[in-house]
Amino acid sequence: MSGPGAVQTGSSWVFRVEAVTKSYDGETNATDGLTMEVAPGEVYGLLGPNGAGKSTLVKQVIGLLKPDSGRITLGSFDLVEDPDAARQLCSYLPQAQMPIDSFKAREAIDIAGMIRGGPAAEVKRRREEMIEALEIGEWRDVLGARLSGGVKRLVGFAMVTVWPGRVIILDEPTNDVDPLRRRRLWEQIRRMGSEGAAVLLVTHNVMEAEKSVDRLAIINEGKLIAEGTPSSLKADDRGRLRLQLMLHPGNSTPELAPLVRDHVRVGNNLVTVIDEDAAGAGIVWAQDLLARGVIEEYALGATTLEDVYVRLTGHKSESER
Ligand SMILES: Nc1ncnc2c1ncn2[C@@H]1O[C@H](COP(=O)(O)OP(=O)(O)OP(=O)(O)O)[C@@H](O)[C@H]1O
Ligand SMILES: [Mg+2]
Repeated sequence: MSGPGAVQTGSSWVFRVEAVTKSYDGETNATDGLTMEVAPGEVYGLLGPNGAGKSTLVKQVIGLLKPDSGRITLGSFDLVEDPDAARQLCSYLPQAQMPIDSFKAREAIDIAGMIRGGPAAEVKRRREEMIEALEIGEWRDVLGARLSGGVKRLVGFAMVTVWPGRVIILDEPTNDVDPLRRRRLWEQIRRMGSEGAAVLLVTHNVMEAEKSVDRLAIINEGKLIAEGTPSSLKADDRGRLRLQLMLHPGNSTPELAPLVRDHVRVGNNLVTVIDEDAAGAGIVWAQDLLARGVIEEYALGATTLEDVYVRLTGHKSESER
């Protein structure tokens, strides 16, 4: 091995998921014909509401579950037929926390790197880099059992990326992490891509994903319902604005003004889409609703990937809860 992930050279390391279907109960498909491709160096986001099938997909990639049908390949390796290769070539941060109670943070990172085949001195050097980059130095010698949820998450991230494979799979890595360290974490995720790994990243946070991924897929009920770069997914919304109305709790959806092109209601939040040149009329309408006590507040702004997400899935993401 000449460096992290350099298990084999000379072949193409494109990661492919082809028509992967898996049912737990024999009736509904938790993943239903999913197909996607992630190139080395690419950060690919997997978004979708609870129960969409994201974790079920990543568990099939790393051999924890076997697909009922479909193929998962990495370069010339068939990861379904060859689970040993899957374990060797993929680094995986599970959605659940890593069991590191009896290790100090730095020991857990070192052990994980060495299990993956990293030489001790090199692993330690990279461990220090990551501890510094993630700003968790003050917990370097603290036992896992004493770490807060967010710090444990960051240590888990360092464990799986200190000596990464060709594919890095992160299932909600930013859970419980504070906003400052989230930014550091996203920088490190980008760094993994720039070092040549294909990064498959599961997240609920559409706003963060929008800033940090190269491409993303939106998954709902086991199916891929949209895929592309963040800006290509927003292309349909060009020339439009979002007018968001916060209804008084319990109020029913008011009659929509003719200028409303599209709308979705989640809880007391009514997100409408209007044309840019109808902005003035939109504000007049919203102010009238405010004056009549139908809504508590409103906001007019650019459409975001969140709007696309809400429209396609009927759910709000973590960014807007
Ligand atoms: N071990 C299991 N046995 C039976 N059904 C399961 C199992 N794990 C998941 N499911 C079901 O499969 C579907 C997909 O679940 P999955 O955990 O993949 O969703 P997810 O997209 O990761 O959701 P979340 O965002 O909540 O983590 C859900 O309907 C879930 O209830
Ligand atoms: Mg999950």
